[in-house]
Amino acid sequence: MSHDNKRFVARDRDWHPPAYAPGYKTSVPRSPQQALVSMQQPTVSELTGPDFSHLRMGPHDNDLLMNFSQGEGLPQGERIIMHGRVVDQFGKPVPHTLVEMWQANAGGRYRHKKDAYLAPLDPHFGGVGRCLTDDQGGYRFRTIKPGPYPWPNDVNSWRPAHIHVSVTGPSISTRLITQMYFEGDPLIPLCPIVHTLSDPEAVDTMIGRLDMAHSKPMDCLAYRFDIVVRGELQTYFENQ
Ligand SMILES: [Fe+2]
Repeated sequence: MSHDNKRFVARDRDWHPPAYAPGYKTSVPRSPQQALVSMQQPTVSELTGPDFSHLRMGPHDNDLLMNFSQGEGLPQGERIIMHGRVVDQFGKPVPHTLVEMWQANAGGRYRHKKDAYLAPLDPHFGGVGRCLTDDQGGYRFRTIKPGPYPWPNDVNSWRPAHIHVSVTGPSISTRLITQMYFEGDPLIPLCPIVHTLSDPEAVDTMIGRLDMAHSKPMDCLAYRFDIVVRGELQTYFENQ
């Protein structure tokens, strides 16, 4: 298929959270103040890029147990594997695309100069990782389970444990930034950010499932998180 006729299915605005969600206070100043302008024609760079083949991945880029301390010491917390597949909405694997993730440490603290939460930094944990999906769209990280943390929204708002994820997909225009929550976390139904999703099934798609089959005995539990990005519109031929 040439890039000229490559088109992607429009994002379903009923499924994704609205930009303006007053229960999530910072969405109010960040949401558009004027009517959106529809860009009917994607630009060439949106359709042809990105190409990640030039990326040189380090040996520990997807291993947060090692990539900050370079093996000098291990981080505090529950050792976990986070893995899954990146597929489009029609179930087609998205190979060789970039998956980036970032997270708080086991105490719920980010290694970010603006994070002033009481929980201490972990000298052996940075909190960022990346990898490229394999031929079947599979990805895998080794890390620790992040802790929940408080944030200024309501009087007493706490984020459920979560890992932030950015996945590009087959085109710049399919990029998705999302979060993985952990199955069984009682903070999920209390979270004002989770509440911006109106459909409980949409919330379900953001929950990583405990996956004992991929855990490592005496080493790591595993959580499975499949990520779905927008798909390409089907090309119809004259004889169909
Ligand atoms: Fe976060």
